[in-house]
Amino acid sequence: SAVQTGSLTWSAPSNIALVKYWGKVGDQIPANPSLSFTLSKCKTITTLDYSVKSEKGISFDLLFEGQPKEDFKPKVQKFFERIVKYCPYIEQYHFVIDTTNTFPHSSGIASSASGMAAMAVNIMSLEKELNPVMSEEYFNQKASFLARLGSGSACRSVSGSVVVWGTQEDVSGSSDLYGVEFPYSLHENFKGYRDVILLVDKGEKQVSSTLGHNLMNGHPYAEQRFAQAHENMTKLRAILEQGNIPEFIALVESEALTLHAMMMTSMPYFILMKPNTLQIIEKIWAFREKTSIPVCFTLDAGANVHVLFPKDNERFVMDFINEELAVFCENAQYIADEMGAGAIRI
Ligand code: PMV
Repeated sequence: SAVQTGSLTWSAPSNIALVKYWGKVGDQIPANPSLSFTLSKCKTITTLDYSVKSEKGISFDLLFEGQPKEDFKPKVQKFFERIVKYCPYIEQYHFVIDTTNTFPHSSGIASSASGMAAMAVNIMSLEKELNPVMSEEYFNQKASFLARLGSGSACRSVSGSVVVWGTQEDVSGSSDLYGVEFPYSLHENFKGYRDVILLVDKGEKQVSSTLGHNLMNGHPYAEQRFAQAHENMTKLRAILEQGNIPEFIALVESEALTLHAMMMTSMPYFILMKPNTLQIIEKIWAFREKTSIPVCFTLDAGANVHVLFPKDNERFVMDFINEELAVFCENAQYIADEMGAGAIRI
């Protein structure tokens, strides 16, 4: 007998990729494996109210911070259409979805990873109400699988601090279909790693990630890039186990620049960095040279800069950010985040 009505609330974090996912086939099957750190403060909180209805079909109202939000509806509609064959029970309910992000609206931070992960864990939570005998592993795997159908990188936002997505020979249990927690021990050096997100450009994304991924089809350097991502996964696995921060820095910065190099060499081509992005990178390099403090950067498909460093260096690096980097951010804004652990029920 179906559960008639109820309400669920989950929060799911964003994540930052160190080996980048860029290129896919079909429904978010990645062209190469990726690895990310889960974030803590940048998250989406989503409430899912459900009530049984008489007619079968996909039906929902969408609110953003309590207000109707029509422009996000097609994305959610598409998400439901993609998952319905794995979750047929959703057709028995009408949903009211209310979603809030903890990061500033239009900060240039993509909310698709946290947003789709929050949707997916809510749906799995409903499935669990219908079928209470469910292992945590099944819950997390299927939630990640569903999140992937919403937005590829969202599958890395469900559970774990370090998450691998995409089949990789030397990462046991890895899959193209869902993210898995890094199945090796993470060296102390990386526990609680910091990620300060510098908001260089809060505008709309110039290139949607869908378009970007598609530009890897027929891209002249695609095969080389995909092979490199596999090699970097092997290297990063050892780096994370051994705690080798200098090698971490070299690999992570190279991955970020390679992601942007792929966009600069696609047709059409894009430059997603801004002058301030480069100013920040140069400042980070100069600071690292001068102080030997192991701070480095990574980038997503945009102009914002993620400043990564070990938690023990927090005081000095925050001073550096406030004194030298904040001036390159819009309204001097940044988000001081750190490694988190995944979605949680509220
Ligand atoms: O999940 P999508 O389709 O928005 O792709 C995200 C791609 C990058 O953020 C650029 C890299 C990554 O692995 O997260």
